[in-house]
Amino acid sequence: MKVEEAKYYHQVDTVVVGAGLAGLRAALELARNNQAVGVITKVYPTRSHSGGAQGGIAASLANVAEDSPELHMFDTVKGSDYLGDQDVIELFVNEAIKTIYEFEHMGVPFSRTEDGKINQRPFGGHSSPRACFSADITGHVLLHTLYEQCLKYNVHFFNEYQVFSLLIKDDISRGVVAWDIRNGGLHIFHSKTVLLATGGYGRAFKITSNSFANSGDSLGLILENKLPLEDMEFVQFHPTGLYKHGILLSEAARGEGAYITNDKGERFMKNYAPEKMELAPRDVVSRAEQTEINNGRGINGQEYVYLDLRHLGAKKIMERLPQVQELALKYIKTDCTLEPVPIQPTAHYSMGGVPANIKTEVLKNGNGDIIKGLYTAGEASCLSLHGANRLGTNSLQGAATFGRIAGKSMSEFVKSNAYESLPSNPLEVANGKISSLVEGSGKEKHASLREELQKNMTKFLGVFRNEKDMLTMKQKIKELQDRYKKVIIDDKGKIYNLDLIEAFELGNLLVFSEVLIEGSLARKESRGAHYRTDFPERDDENWLKHTMAWKTETGVKLDHSKKVIIYWDRYPPQERKY
Ligand code: FUM
Repeated sequence: MKVEEAKYYHQVDTVVVGAGLAGLRAALELARNNQAVGVITKVYPTRSHSGGAQGGIAASLANVAEDSPELHMFDTVKGSDYLGDQDVIELFVNEAIKTIYEFEHMGVPFSRTEDGKINQRPFGGHSSPRACFSADITGHVLLHTLYEQCLKYNVHFFNEYQVFSLLIKDDISRGVVAWDIRNGGLHIFHSKTVLLATGGYGRAFKITSNSFANSGDSLGLILENKLPLEDMEFVQFHPTGLYKHGILLSEAARGEGAYITNDKGERFMKNYAPEKMELAPRDVVSRAEQTEINNGRGINGQEYVYLDLRHLGAKKIMERLPQVQELALKYIKTDCTLEPVPIQPTAHYSMGGVPANIKTEVLKNGNGDIIKGLYTAGEASCLSLHGANRLGTNSLQGAATFGRIAGKSMSEFVKSNAYESLPSNPLEVANGKISSLVEGSGKEKHASLREELQKNMTKFLGVFRNEKDMLTMKQKIKELQDRYKKVIIDDKGKIYNLDLIEAFELGNLLVFSEVLIEGSLARKESRGAHYRTDFPERDDENWLKHTMAWKTETGVKLDHSKKVIIYWDRYPPQERKY
Protein backbone atom coordinates (compact mmCIF):
# COMPACT_ATOMS: atom_id res chain seq x y z
CA MET A 1 0.00 0.00 0.00
CA LYS A 2 1.34 3.43 -0.94
CA VAL A 3 0.94 6.44 1.29
CA GLU A 4 -2.12 8.48 0.30
CA GLU A 5 -2.20 11.76 -1.52
CA ALA A 6 -5.02 14.23 -0.88
CA LYS A 7 -7.87 12.32 -2.39
CA TYR A 8 -11.37 12.94 -1.14
CA TYR A 9 -12.38 16.27 0.26
CA HIS A 10 -15.67 16.96 2.06
CA GLN A 11 -16.79 20.28 3.45
CA VAL A 12 -19.52 19.94 6.07
CA ASP A 13 -20.51 22.35 8.87
CA THR A 14 -20.30 19.71 11.58
CA VAL A 15 -18.54 16.39 11.82
CA VAL A 16 -19.70 14.03 14.54
CA VAL A 17 -17.19 11.27 15.29
CA GLY A 18 -19.01 8.26 16.73
CA ALA A 19 -22.57 7.00 16.24
CA GLY A 20 -23.52 5.92 19.75
CA LEU A 21 -26.19 7.67 21.77
CA ALA A 22 -24.25 10.92 22.27
CA GLY A 23 -23.19 11.21 18.62
CA LEU A 24 -26.61 10.40 17.19
CA ARG A 25 -28.46 12.68 19.61
CA ALA A 26 -26.13 15.57 18.71
CA ALA A 27 -26.50 14.85 14.98
CA LEU A 28 -30.28 14.80 15.30
CA GLU A 29 -30.29 18.13 17.12
CA LEU A 30 -28.18 19.70 14.38
CA ALA A 31 -30.27 18.22 11.59
CA ARG A 32 -33.50 19.40 13.21
CA ASN A 33 -31.95 22.88 13.19
CA ASN A 34 -31.31 22.55 9.44
CA GLN A 35 -27.57 22.16 9.86
CA ALA A 36 -25.44 20.02 7.56
CA VAL A 37 -23.95 17.19 9.60
CA GLY A 38 -21.78 14.20 8.72
CA VAL A 39 -21.44 11.31 11.17
CA ILE A 40 -18.20 9.37 10.89
CA THR A 41 -18.28 5.98 12.58
CA LYS A 42 -15.94 3.04 12.54
CA VAL A 43 -18.77 0.55 13.06
CA TYR A 44 -22.23 0.53 11.51
CA PRO A 45 -24.27 2.93 13.73
CA THR A 46 -26.62 0.35 15.22
CA ARG A 47 -23.61 -1.72 16.30
CA SER A 48 -22.29 1.11 18.50
CA HIS A 49 -21.60 0.15 22.09
CA SER A 50 -24.49 2.21 23.51
CA GLY A 51 -26.56 -0.75 22.32
CA GLY A 52 -24.83 -2.83 25.00
CA ALA A 53 -26.18 -0.68 27.86
CA GLN A 54 -29.02 -2.77 29.10
CA GLY A 55 -30.83 -2.00 32.31
CA GLY A 56 -32.21 1.50 31.93
CA ILE A 57 -31.91 5.27 31.59
CA ALA A 58 -32.29 7.45 34.68
CA ALA A 59 -34.80 10.26 35.18
CA SER A 60 -36.84 11.26 38.22
CA LEU A 61 -40.24 10.79 36.55
CA ALA A 62 -41.69 9.51 39.86
CA ASN A 63 -43.89 7.06 37.96
CA VAL A 64 -43.73 4.27 40.53
CA ALA A 65 -42.54 6.00 43.73
CA GLU A 66 -41.80 9.45 45.08
CA ASP A 67 -38.84 11.10 43.40
CA SER A 68 -37.46 14.49 42.39
CA PRO A 69 -34.56 16.02 40.44
CA GLU A 70 -33.09 17.12 43.81
CA LEU A 71 -33.00 13.53 45.02
CA HIS A 72 -31.49 12.39 41.72
CA MET A 73 -28.89 15.11 42.14
CA PHE A 74 -28.05 14.10 45.70
CA ASP A 75 -27.69 10.43 44.71
CA THR A 76 -25.43 11.34 41.78
CA VAL A 77 -23.24 13.66 43.87
CA LYS A 78 -22.89 11.05 46.60
CA GLY A 79 -22.35 8.27 44.03
CA SER A 80 -19.53 10.33 42.47
CA ASP A 81 -17.82 10.34 45.89
CA TYR A 82 -18.16 14.14 45.74
CA LEU A 83 -15.88 14.54 42.73
CA GLY A 84 -18.71 15.28 40.26
CA ASP A 85 -19.10 18.95 39.30
CA GLN A 86 -22.40 19.98 40.83
CA ASP A 87 -23.36 22.56 38.20
CA VAL A 88 -23.12 19.83 35.55
CA ILE A 89 -25.08 17.37 37.70
CA GLU A 90 -27.80 19.96 38.33
CA LEU A 91 -28.24 20.65 34.62
CA PHE A 92 -28.23 16.90 33.96
CA VAL A 93 -30.98 15.94 36.43
CA ASN A 94 -33.21 18.79 35.27
CA GLU A 95 -32.82 17.99 31.56
CA ALA A 96 -33.11 14.22 32.11
CA ILE A 97 -36.91 14.25 32.32
CA LYS A 98 -37.25 16.12 29.03
CA THR A 99 -34.84 13.66 27.39
CA ILE A 100 -37.09 10.72 28.35
CA TYR A 101 -40.28 12.32 27.02
CA GLU A 102 -38.49 13.21 23.80
CA PHE A 103 -37.52 9.57 23.42
CA GLU A 104 -41.08 8.51 24.14
CA HIS A 105 -42.34 10.83 21.40
CA MET A 106 -39.75 9.47 18.97
CA GLY A 107 -41.31 6.04 19.50
CA VAL A 108 -39.00 4.30 21.98
CA PRO A 109 -40.85 1.16 23.17
CA PHE A 110 -40.42 1.64 26.94
CA SER A 111 -41.78 -1.07 29.25
CA ARG A 112 -44.98 0.19 30.89
CA THR A 113 -46.73 0.09 34.26
CA GLU A 114 -50.24 -1.39 34.54
CA ASP A 115 -51.70 2.08 34.05
CA GLY A 116 -49.62 2.76 30.93
CA LYS A 117 -46.86 4.99 32.32
CA ILE A 118 -43.18 4.45 31.53
CA ASN A 119 -42.11 1.80 34.03
CA GLN A 120 -39.12 2.42 36.32
CA ARG A 121 -36.97 -0.06 38.24
CA PRO A 122 -34.50 0.31 41.10
CA PHE A 123 -30.76 0.59 40.33
CA GLY A 124 -27.65 0.75 42.49
CA GLY A 125 -27.10 3.96 44.45
CA HIS A 126 -30.43 5.50 43.37
CA SER A 127 -32.76 6.07 46.31
CA SER A 128 -35.92 5.73 44.22
CA PRO A 129 -36.84 3.44 41.27
CA ARG A 130 -35.59 5.76 38.54
CA ALA A 131 -34.42 3.57 35.67
CA CYS A 132 -36.80 3.85 32.70
CA PHE A 133 -36.34 0.62 30.78
CA SER A 134 -37.27 -1.56 27.90
CA ALA A 135 -36.83 -5.08 29.35
CA ASP A 136 -33.01 -5.36 29.52
CA ILE A 137 -32.30 -3.99 26.03
CA THR A 138 -32.74 -0.29 26.79
CA GLY A 139 -29.59 0.98 25.03
CA HIS A 140 -30.44 -1.12 21.99
CA VAL A 141 -33.92 0.38 21.53
CA LEU A 142 -32.71 3.94 22.17
CA LEU A 143 -29.92 3.53 19.63
CA HIS A 144 -32.19 2.11 16.94
CA THR A 145 -34.84 4.78 17.48
CA LEU A 146 -32.27 7.58 17.28
CA TYR A 147 -30.73 6.12 14.14
CA GLU A 148 -34.16 6.02 12.46
CA GLN A 149 -34.74 9.66 13.45
CA CYS A 150 -31.35 10.65 12.02
CA LEU A 151 -32.23 8.97 8.73
CA LYS A 152 -35.59 10.75 8.72
CA TYR A 153 -33.78 14.09 9.07
CA ASN A 154 -31.22 13.22 6.36
CA VAL A 155 -28.14 13.04 8.53
CA HIS A 156 -25.30 11.89 6.28
CA PHE A 157 -23.45 8.80 7.55
CA PHE A 158 -19.90 7.81 6.73
CA ASN A 159 -20.09 4.26 8.05
CA GLU A 160 -16.91 2.27 8.60
CA TYR A 161 -14.54 5.22 8.52
CA GLN A 162 -11.73 5.44 11.07
CA VAL A 163 -10.58 8.92 12.10
CA PHE A 164 -6.77 8.99 11.97
CA SER A 165 -6.08 12.62 12.86
CA LEU A 166 -7.66 15.83 14.13
CA LEU A 167 -7.00 19.03 12.20
CA ILE A 168 -6.31 21.55 14.96
CA LYS A 169 -4.18 24.66 14.48
CA ASP A 170 -3.82 27.74 16.69
CA ASP A 171 -6.34 26.26 19.14
CA ILE A 172 -9.03 26.08 16.46
CA SER A 173 -10.55 22.83 15.21
CA ARG A 174 -10.77 22.64 11.41
CA GLY A 175 -11.93 19.09 10.79
CA VAL A 176 -10.59 15.54 10.74
CA VAL A 177 -8.87 13.05 8.44
CA ALA A 178 -10.44 9.58 8.23
CA TRP A 179 -9.65 6.29 6.51
CA ASP A 180 -12.40 4.60 4.52
CA ILE A 181 -12.23 1.06 5.93
CA ARG A 182 -14.40 -0.50 3.22
CA ASN A 183 -12.70 0.93 0.15
CA GLY A 184 -9.39 2.22 1.47
CA GLY A 185 -8.23 5.82 1.12
CA LEU A 186 -7.95 8.91 3.29
CA HIS A 187 -10.70 11.53 3.33
CA ILE A 188 -10.40 15.11 4.52
CA PHE A 189 -13.43 16.42 6.38
CA HIS A 190 -13.21 20.19 6.54
CA SER A 191 -15.69 21.48 9.13
CA LYS A 192 -16.53 24.36 11.44
CA THR A 193 -17.17 22.05 14.38
CA VAL A 194 -16.17 18.54 15.39
CA LEU A 195 -17.82 16.44 18.11
CA LEU A 196 -15.77 13.65 19.67
CA ALA A 197 -18.29 11.03 20.77
CA THR A 198 -16.27 7.86 20.40
CA GLY A 199 -17.41 6.20 23.63
CA GLY A 200 -15.47 4.34 26.27
CA TYR A 201 -12.13 2.60 26.30
CA GLY A 202 -12.48 -0.54 28.38
CA ARG A 203 -10.51 -2.51 25.81
CA ALA A 204 -7.34 -1.55 27.67
CA PHE A 205 -8.42 -4.37 30.05
CA LYS A 206 -8.71 -8.09 29.44
CA ILE A 207 -11.88 -8.58 31.49
CA THR A 208 -14.22 -5.93 30.13
CA SER A 209 -17.85 -5.49 29.17
CA ASN A 210 -16.80 -3.15 26.35
CA SER A 211 -17.08 -4.04 22.69
CA PHE A 212 -14.02 -4.43 20.45
CA ALA A 213 -14.47 -0.93 19.05
CA ASN A 214 -13.92 0.73 22.45
CA SER A 215 -10.25 1.53 22.09
CA GLY A 216 -10.29 5.20 23.14
CA ASP A 217 -9.27 6.55 19.75
CA SER A 218 -10.24 10.14 20.40
CA LEU A 219 -8.22 10.09 23.63
CA GLY A 220 -5.13 9.13 21.67
CA LEU A 221 -5.83 11.90 19.15
CA ILE A 222 -6.30 14.48 21.91
CA LEU A 223 -3.01 13.56 23.59
CA GLU A 224 -1.19 13.65 20.26
CA ASN A 225 -2.41 17.24 19.85
CA LYS A 226 -0.78 18.17 23.17
CA LEU A 227 -4.16 18.52 24.84
CA PRO A 228 -5.04 17.05 28.25
CA LEU A 229 -7.26 14.25 29.50
CA GLU A 230 -9.10 14.54 32.80
CA ASP A 231 -9.58 12.16 35.77
CA MET A 232 -8.33 9.11 33.90
CA GLU A 233 -7.63 7.17 37.11
CA PHE A 234 -11.32 6.50 37.64
CA VAL A 235 -12.33 3.27 35.89
CA GLN A 236 -15.57 1.61 36.88
CA PHE A 237 -15.67 -2.14 37.44
CA HIS A 238 -19.19 -3.51 37.05
CA PRO A 239 -19.87 -6.26 39.61
CA THR A 240 -21.74 -8.62 37.31
CA GLY A 241 -19.48 -9.46 34.41
CA LEU A 242 -19.89 -12.99 33.07
CA TYR A 243 -17.00 -15.01 34.53
CA LYS A 244 -13.93 -15.12 32.24
CA HIS A 245 -15.78 -13.29 29.42
CA GLY A 246 -16.45 -9.98 31.17
CA ILE A 247 -19.69 -9.61 29.20
CA LEU A 248 -22.25 -7.49 31.03
CA LEU A 249 -25.09 -9.17 32.90
CA SER A 250 -27.27 -6.17 33.58
CA GLU A 251 -27.59 -4.60 37.00
CA ALA A 252 -31.30 -4.80 36.12
CA ALA A 253 -31.09 -8.36 37.45
CA ARG A 254 -30.37 -6.98 40.93
CA GLY A 255 -32.88 -4.18 40.32
CA GLU A 256 -35.49 -6.92 39.86
CA GLY A 257 -34.30 -8.67 43.04
CA ALA A 258 -31.39 -11.01 42.17
CA TYR A 259 -28.86 -11.88 44.90
CA ILE A 260 -25.09 -12.12 44.88
CA THR A 261 -23.72 -15.02 46.96
CA ASN A 262 -20.35 -16.46 47.95
CA ASP A 263 -19.10 -20.01 48.38
CA LYS A 264 -20.99 -20.34 51.66
CA GLY A 265 -24.23 -19.35 49.96
CA GLU A 266 -24.24 -16.06 51.92
CA ARG A 267 -25.59 -12.77 50.57
CA PHE A 268 -22.32 -11.18 51.61
CA MET A 269 -23.38 -7.61 50.77
CA LYS A 270 -24.98 -7.52 54.24
CA ASN A 271 -21.43 -7.13 55.59
CA TYR A 272 -20.50 -4.25 53.26
CA ALA A 273 -23.67 -2.24 52.59
CA PRO A 274 -26.32 -3.46 55.04
CA GLU A 275 -28.97 -1.01 53.93
CA LYS A 276 -28.65 -1.15 50.14
CA MET A 277 -27.26 -4.70 49.90
CA GLU A 278 -26.86 -5.69 46.21
CA LEU A 279 -28.13 -2.27 45.18
CA ALA A 280 -25.21 -0.32 46.59
CA PRO A 281 -23.22 1.59 43.92
CA ARG A 282 -20.91 -0.42 41.68
CA ASP A 283 -17.61 0.57 43.29
CA VAL A 284 -18.89 -0.70 46.65
CA VAL A 285 -20.31 -3.98 45.27
CA SER A 286 -17.25 -4.73 43.11
CA ARG A 287 -14.92 -4.21 46.05
CA ALA A 288 -17.05 -6.46 48.23
CA GLU A 289 -17.04 -9.15 45.56
CA GLN A 290 -13.28 -8.92 45.06
CA THR A 291 -12.72 -9.06 48.82
CA GLU A 292 -14.74 -12.27 49.06
CA ILE A 293 -12.74 -13.75 46.17
CA ASN A 294 -9.39 -12.62 47.61
CA ASN A 295 -10.31 -14.13 50.99
CA GLY A 296 -11.02 -17.53 49.49
CA ARG A 297 -14.80 -17.23 49.53
CA GLY A 298 -15.19 -17.28 45.74
CA ILE A 299 -17.13 -20.31 44.52
CA ASN A 300 -14.93 -23.37 45.13
CA GLY A 301 -12.13 -20.94 45.98
CA GLN A 302 -12.17 -19.69 42.37
CA GLU A 303 -12.17 -16.10 41.04
CA TYR A 304 -15.95 -15.75 40.88
CA VAL A 305 -19.10 -15.48 42.95
CA TYR A 306 -22.73 -16.17 41.98
CA LEU A 307 -25.52 -14.01 40.63
CA ASP A 308 -28.65 -15.86 41.70
CA LEU A 309 -31.91 -15.10 39.91
CA ARG A 310 -33.74 -18.38 40.48
CA HIS A 311 -36.21 -17.03 43.03
CA LEU A 312 -37.46 -14.46 40.51
CA GLY A 313 -39.07 -17.23 38.49
CA ALA A 314 -38.83 -18.00 34.78
CA LYS A 315 -41.82 -15.83 33.84
CA LYS A 316 -40.37 -12.63 35.31
CA ILE A 317 -36.89 -13.41 34.00
CA MET A 318 -38.14 -13.93 30.47
CA GLU A 319 -40.27 -10.79 30.56
CA ARG A 320 -37.84 -8.40 32.28
CA LEU A 321 -34.37 -9.93 31.79
CA PRO A 322 -34.40 -11.94 28.56
CA GLN A 323 -30.89 -10.82 27.60
CA VAL A 324 -29.37 -11.92 30.92
CA GLN A 325 -30.91 -15.35 30.29
CA GLU A 326 -29.69 -15.45 26.69
CA LEU A 327 -26.10 -14.34 27.44
CA ALA A 328 -25.61 -16.82 30.29
CA LEU A 329 -27.06 -19.62 28.21
CA LYS A 330 -25.11 -18.86 25.04
CA TYR A 331 -21.72 -18.09 26.55
CA ILE A 332 -21.49 -20.46 29.50
CA LYS A 333 -24.42 -22.82 29.00
CA THR A 334 -26.03 -21.72 32.27
CA ASP A 335 -29.80 -21.45 32.45
CA CYS A 336 -30.27 -18.67 35.01
CA THR A 337 -33.85 -19.74 35.71
CA LEU A 338 -32.43 -22.98 37.15
CA GLU A 339 -28.83 -22.26 38.21
CA PRO A 340 -26.83 -19.36 39.67
CA VAL A 341 -24.51 -17.62 37.20
CA PRO A 342 -20.72 -17.23 37.77
CA ILE A 343 -19.74 -13.54 37.79
CA GLN A 344 -16.72 -11.32 38.45
CA PRO A 345 -15.99 -7.56 38.31
CA THR A 346 -15.47 -6.35 34.74
CA ALA A 347 -14.01 -3.05 33.44
CA HIS A 348 -17.19 -1.32 32.33
CA TYR A 349 -17.08 2.47 32.22
CA SER A 350 -14.50 5.21 32.26
CA MET A 351 -15.37 8.30 34.28
CA GLY A 352 -12.39 10.22 32.88
CA GLY A 353 -11.85 11.34 29.32
CA VAL A 354 -11.64 14.43 27.12
CA PRO A 355 -12.24 17.45 29.39
CA ALA A 356 -15.13 19.70 28.49
CA ASN A 357 -17.14 22.53 30.00
CA ILE A 358 -20.89 22.46 30.63
CA LYS A 359 -21.54 23.43 26.98
CA THR A 360 -19.45 20.40 25.90
CA GLU A 361 -16.62 22.57 24.51
CA VAL A 362 -13.25 20.81 24.78
CA LEU A 363 -10.88 22.35 27.33
CA LYS A 364 -7.21 22.89 26.67
CA ASN A 365 -6.31 23.29 30.36
CA GLY A 366 -7.78 23.47 33.84
CA ASN A 367 -8.38 27.23 33.60
CA GLY A 368 -11.38 26.92 31.32
CA ASP A 369 -9.66 27.86 28.02
CA ILE A 370 -11.18 26.02 25.07
CA ILE A 371 -10.28 24.70 21.64
CA LYS A 372 -12.62 26.64 19.37
CA GLY A 373 -15.01 24.44 17.39
CA LEU A 374 -14.12 21.20 19.21
CA TYR A 375 -16.77 19.47 21.35
CA THR A 376 -17.16 16.17 23.18
CA ALA A 377 -20.00 14.18 24.76
CA GLY A 378 -20.79 10.69 26.03
CA GLU A 379 -18.30 8.33 27.61
CA ALA A 380 -15.32 9.74 25.70
CA SER A 381 -15.86 13.02 27.54
CA CYS A 382 -15.20 14.14 31.09
CA LEU A 383 -17.62 16.92 31.98
CA SER A 384 -17.30 15.86 35.03
CA LEU A 385 -20.79 14.46 35.52
CA HIS A 386 -19.88 11.16 37.18
CA GLY A 387 -16.88 12.20 39.26
CA ALA A 388 -15.11 9.21 40.77
CA ASN A 389 -17.94 6.71 40.27
CA ARG A 390 -20.95 6.67 37.95
CA LEU A 391 -24.36 5.40 39.01
CA GLY A 392 -25.92 2.82 36.70
CA THR A 393 -28.37 4.29 34.12
CA ASN A 394 -26.78 7.75 34.39
CA SER A 395 -24.63 6.88 31.38
CA LEU A 396 -27.37 6.51 28.75
CA GLN A 397 -28.96 9.63 30.21
CA GLY A 398 -25.65 11.53 30.22
CA ALA A 399 -24.94 10.55 26.62
CA ALA A 400 -28.39 11.54 25.35
CA THR A 401 -28.75 14.76 27.34
CA PHE A 402 -25.26 16.07 26.69
CA GLY A 403 -25.49 14.86 23.09
CA ARG A 404 -28.47 17.20 22.69
CA ILE A 405 -26.65 20.01 24.49
CA ALA A 406 -23.62 19.49 22.22
CA GLY A 407 -25.88 19.66 19.16
CA LYS A 408 -27.33 22.97 20.39
CA SER A 409 -23.91 24.45 21.22
CA MET A 410 -22.47 23.46 17.83
CA SER A 411 -25.52 24.73 16.01
CA GLU A 412 -25.04 28.19 17.56
CA PHE A 413 -21.33 28.13 16.77
CA VAL A 414 -21.86 27.14 13.13
CA LYS A 415 -24.33 30.00 12.58
CA SER A 416 -21.92 32.67 13.71
CA ASN A 417 -18.53 31.38 12.47
CA ALA A 418 -16.93 30.99 9.05
CA TYR A 419 -14.79 28.05 7.89
CA GLU A 420 -11.17 28.33 8.99
CA SER A 421 -8.45 27.36 6.55
CA LEU A 422 -6.98 23.86 6.68
CA PRO A 423 -3.39 23.25 7.79
CA SER A 424 -1.00 23.31 4.80
CA ASN A 425 -0.51 19.53 4.71
CA PRO A 426 -3.66 18.07 6.28
CA LEU A 427 -2.77 14.44 5.49
CA GLU A 428 0.72 14.55 6.97
CA VAL A 429 -0.10 13.07 10.41
CA ALA A 430 -2.45 10.35 9.13
CA ASN A 431 -0.02 9.35 6.40
CA GLY A 432 2.84 9.20 8.88
CA LYS A 433 0.91 6.74 11.05
CA ILE A 434 -0.08 4.55 8.12
CA SER A 435 3.37 4.44 6.58
CA SER A 436 5.09 3.51 9.83
CA LEU A 437 2.70 0.57 10.30
CA VAL A 438 2.86 -0.57 6.69
CA GLU A 439 6.50 0.05 5.81
CA GLY A 440 8.28 -0.39 9.16
CA SER A 441 11.16 -2.81 9.49
CA GLY A 442 10.24 -4.29 12.92
CA LYS A 443 8.75 -7.66 13.66
CA GLU A 444 6.27 -6.99 16.48
CA LYS A 445 2.63 -8.05 16.09
CA HIS A 446 -0.06 -5.75 17.41
CA ALA A 447 -2.27 -8.64 18.61
CA SER A 448 0.36 -9.94 21.04
CA LEU A 449 1.11 -6.47 22.38
CA ARG A 450 -2.59 -5.79 22.90
CA GLU A 451 -2.99 -9.10 24.75
CA GLU A 452 -0.06 -8.25 27.05
CA LEU A 453 -1.44 -4.79 27.74
CA GLN A 454 -4.90 -6.11 28.59
CA LYS A 455 -3.73 -8.95 30.82
CA ASN A 456 -1.45 -6.68 32.80
CA MET A 457 -3.93 -3.83 33.15
CA THR A 458 -6.51 -6.25 34.58
CA LYS A 459 -3.88 -7.65 36.94
CA PHE A 460 -2.21 -4.43 38.11
CA LEU A 461 -4.89 -1.72 37.80
CA GLY A 462 -8.03 -3.51 38.84
CA VAL A 463 -10.56 -3.05 41.64
CA PHE A 464 -7.75 -2.78 44.22
CA ARG A 465 -4.56 -0.87 43.45
CA ASN A 466 -1.26 -0.20 45.19
CA GLU A 467 1.96 1.58 44.35
CA LYS A 468 4.05 -1.53 43.75
CA ASP A 469 1.61 -2.99 41.21
CA MET A 470 1.16 0.32 39.45
CA LEU A 471 4.92 0.84 39.17
CA THR A 472 5.18 -2.63 37.64
CA MET A 473 2.51 -1.63 35.13
CA LYS A 474 4.30 1.64 34.42
CA GLN A 475 7.43 -0.32 33.47
CA LYS A 476 5.37 -2.67 31.34
CA ILE A 477 3.70 0.14 29.44
CA LYS A 478 7.07 1.70 28.60
CA GLU A 479 8.24 -1.64 27.25
CA LEU A 480 5.05 -2.06 25.20
CA GLN A 481 5.29 1.48 23.84
CA ASP A 482 8.87 0.78 22.71
CA ARG A 483 7.83 -2.45 21.08
CA TYR A 484 4.91 -0.68 19.39
CA LYS A 485 7.43 1.37 17.39
CA LYS A 486 8.44 -1.94 15.78
CA VAL A 487 4.93 -3.11 14.90
CA ILE A 488 4.49 -4.16 11.29
CA ILE A 489 1.24 -5.30 9.71
CA ASP A 490 0.94 -8.25 7.33
CA ASP A 491 -1.96 -6.98 5.24
CA LYS A 492 -0.66 -4.34 2.82
CA GLY A 493 -3.98 -3.99 1.00
CA LYS A 494 -6.55 -1.23 1.16
CA ILE A 495 -9.87 -3.05 1.31
CA TYR A 496 -11.10 -3.93 4.80
CA ASN A 497 -7.60 -3.77 6.20
CA LEU A 498 -8.46 -4.51 9.82
CA ASP A 499 -4.80 -5.27 10.46
CA LEU A 500 -4.17 -1.56 9.93
CA ILE A 501 -7.14 -0.45 12.04
CA GLU A 502 -6.24 -2.71 14.97
CA ALA A 503 -2.59 -1.62 14.91
CA PHE A 504 -3.74 2.02 14.94
CA GLU A 505 -6.11 1.33 17.85
CA LEU A 506 -3.29 -0.24 19.84
CA GLY A 507 -1.31 3.00 19.59
CA ASN A 508 -4.23 4.79 21.24
CA LEU A 509 -4.68 2.14 23.94
CA LEU A 510 -1.01 2.38 24.86
CA VAL A 511 -0.86 6.15 25.12
CA PHE A 512 -3.98 6.76 27.21
CA SER A 513 -3.17 3.77 29.45
CA GLU A 514 0.08 5.49 30.41
CA VAL A 515 -1.92 8.56 31.44
CA LEU A 516 -4.32 6.36 33.40
CA ILE A 517 -1.45 4.74 35.28
CA GLU A 518 0.29 8.03 36.10
CA GLY A 519 -2.96 9.61 37.30
CA SER A 520 -3.59 6.59 39.53
CA LEU A 521 -0.08 6.64 40.97
CA ALA A 522 -0.32 10.33 41.75
CA ARG A 523 -3.71 10.19 43.48
CA LYS A 524 -2.71 9.06 46.95
CA GLU A 525 -6.18 8.42 48.34
CA SER A 526 -9.17 6.15 47.75
CA ARG A 527 -12.22 7.72 46.13
CA GLY A 528 -15.04 6.07 44.19
CA ALA A 529 -13.70 3.50 41.77
CA HIS A 530 -10.05 4.36 42.50
CA TYR A 531 -9.23 2.30 45.58
CA ARG A 532 -5.66 2.11 46.89
CA THR A 533 -4.86 -0.46 49.56
CA ASP A 534 -1.87 1.71 50.52
CA PHE A 535 -4.10 4.82 50.91
CA PRO A 536 -7.49 3.37 51.88
CA GLU A 537 -9.13 6.63 53.02
CA ARG A 538 -10.71 9.43 51.03
CA ASP A 539 -8.65 12.56 51.59
CA ASP A 540 -10.78 15.66 50.93
CA GLU A 541 -8.19 18.00 52.33
CA ASN A 542 -5.63 17.14 49.66
CA TRP A 543 -7.53 15.41 46.87
CA LEU A 544 -10.90 17.04 46.36
CA LYS A 545 -9.71 18.11 42.91
CA HIS A 546 -9.55 16.96 39.32
CA THR A 547 -6.53 15.53 37.50
CA MET A 548 -5.49 17.05 34.17
CA ALA A 549 -2.82 15.08 32.29
CA TRP A 550 -0.76 15.78 29.17
CA LYS A 551 1.56 13.45 27.29
CA THR A 552 4.91 15.14 26.72
CA GLU A 553 8.22 14.07 25.16
CA THR A 554 9.49 13.12 28.60
CA GLY A 555 6.41 11.41 30.02
CA VAL A 556 3.07 12.41 31.49
CA LYS A 557 2.63 15.89 32.97
CA LEU A 558 -0.03 16.20 35.68
CA ASP A 559 -1.84 19.21 37.04
CA HIS A 560 -4.21 19.08 40.01
CA SER A 561 -5.23 22.70 40.23
CA LYS A 562 -8.70 22.27 38.66
CA LYS A 563 -11.23 22.58 41.47
CA VAL A 564 -14.37 20.48 41.86
CA ILE A 565 -17.53 22.59 41.62
CA ILE A 566 -19.38 22.04 44.88
CA TYR A 567 -22.54 23.73 46.20
CA TRP A 568 -21.24 23.86 49.77
CA ASP A 569 -24.58 25.00 51.18
CA ARG A 570 -26.53 22.15 49.51
CA TYR A 571 -24.37 19.09 48.90
CA PRO A 572 -21.17 19.33 50.98
CA PRO A 573 -18.97 16.21 51.06
CA GLN A 574 -20.08 13.65 53.66
CA GLU A 575 -19.03 10.16 54.62
CA ARG A 576 -20.38 7.79 51.97
CA LYS A 577 -22.35 4.92 53.56
CA TYR A 578 -24.96 2.63 52.01
O1 FUM B 1 -26.01 -3.05 34.18
C1 FUM B 1 -26.44 -2.33 33.29
O2 FUM B 1 -27.53 -2.51 32.77
C2 FUM B 1 -25.61 -1.18 32.88
C3 FUM B 1 -26.10 0.03 32.82
C4 FUM B 1 -25.20 1.19 32.89
O3 FUM B 1 -23.98 1.02 32.87
O4 FUM B 1 -25.70 2.31 33.02
